[in-house]
Amino acid sequence: LLVTDPLRVGVVGLGRLGRIHAENIKNRTRALELVRVADTLEEVARSAAAQLDVPWSTHFDDVLCDAEVDAVVIVTPTPLHASMIEQASAAGKHIFCEKPIAQDIESAKQAVEAAQRSGVQLQLGFHRRFDPDWAAAMRRIEAGELGQIYFFRSTLRDMEPPSLDFLRDSGGIFFDMMIHDFDVARWMVGEVIEITACGAAIADPRVAEFNDVDQGIAVLRFANGALGVIDVSRSAGYGYECATEIVGSRATVRIAHGQRFNVEWLTPGASTTDYAAGFLERFPQAYLLELEDFAAAVRDGRPVRVNGHDGIGALNLAIAADRSRAEKRAVPVAPIQ
Ligand SMILES: NC(=O)c1ccc[n+]([C@@H]2O[C@H](COP(=O)([O-])OP(=O)(O)OC[C@H]3O[C@@H](n4cnc5c(N)ncnc54)[C@H](O)[C@@H]3O)[C@@H](O)[C@H]2O)c1
Repeated sequence: LLVTDPLRVGVVGLGRLGRIHAENIKNRTRALELVRVADTLEEVARSAAAQLDVPWSTHFDDVLCDAEVDAVVIVTPTPLHASMIEQASAAGKHIFCEKPIAQDIESAKQAVEAAQRSGVQLQLGFHRRFDPDWAAAMRRIEAGELGQIYFFRSTLRDMEPPSLDFLRDSGGIFFDMMIHDFDVARWMVGEVIEITACGAAIADPRVAEFNDVDQGIAVLRFANGALGVIDVSRSAGYGYECATEIVGSRATVRIAHGQRFNVEWLTPGASTTDYAAGFLERFPQAYLLELEDFAAAVRDGRPVRVNGHDGIGALNLAIAADRSRAEKRAVPVAPIQ
């Protein structure tokens, strides 16, 4: 019998997703142990800590100074990610950080270099790579079963948008939402060399006040010759939906199934199914599996499966898409040095 110690972690940022990461670590795995939590809002930190039965703090520094903490899980607002990666690196803590890694390439590079210099692991929160459906499809793609890839299509729709306060800090739809599909595109098909994107602020025109949109489309040209289309919506209304399709010379793969249950309800002349209401409901396994895989990488001293370079690669595509939308033209994607 091989017994390994869990990776001891502190979770910082206890909002929509941070709370889920903390609950997963506390209650649903033996690969990680929740040592402490932090949030600048005292009431948020205090109530999460009471529920999870761990010490709390309003300062990230308290997590970094805790010798019991091997790794930090960063789930704070996006503008803080890069600097928190740097601080955690300096403190010698391994890092799991939510997407996007940063909002500009220079900060992202500095963060990745800081982690490398300190010899700590850095994994980005592209959870879809760990979802059993996407992972199963990818295993067959890696085995060559698609043949030559012709076409990539990916869709991400929220039922309703997050708060305006969240959106204001999010970096915009390409950085916050489509970044997941950019990662899937790079992972499943390969590097993208050109992007043409557009967007519209229709469902809630107030997002235009901070130069954002709530519907977005991007057309991709991949280095291997394949084409791609991504469409994202903040406000699909009917439910949360996330789907990817890849057409190849030998096969086509479709990943969808956003239904809450695998039930179709048939009545005269109609058929209905339930949809998941949001990402937390659609991806419960992925949010747990990504953390367990991070812990395994740290434990075994092997590379993480979504590294800092992947964080920069997806960010680079978001920047190109945003520029394409602003300048109304196809934008070549500059390779990252
Ligand atoms: N992978 C995914 O599917 C996914 C889903 C949702 C959010 N996210 C990412 O997770 C991050 C958080 O998103 P959210 O929806 O949970 O946001 P949120 O606004 O609900 O929560 C953020 C929390 O961080 C706290 N906070 C702010 N500054 C802090 C600081 N300096 N130290 C400690 N805590 C601080 C806030 O008080 C808040 O409780 C974002 O970067 C977002 O892009 C990823």
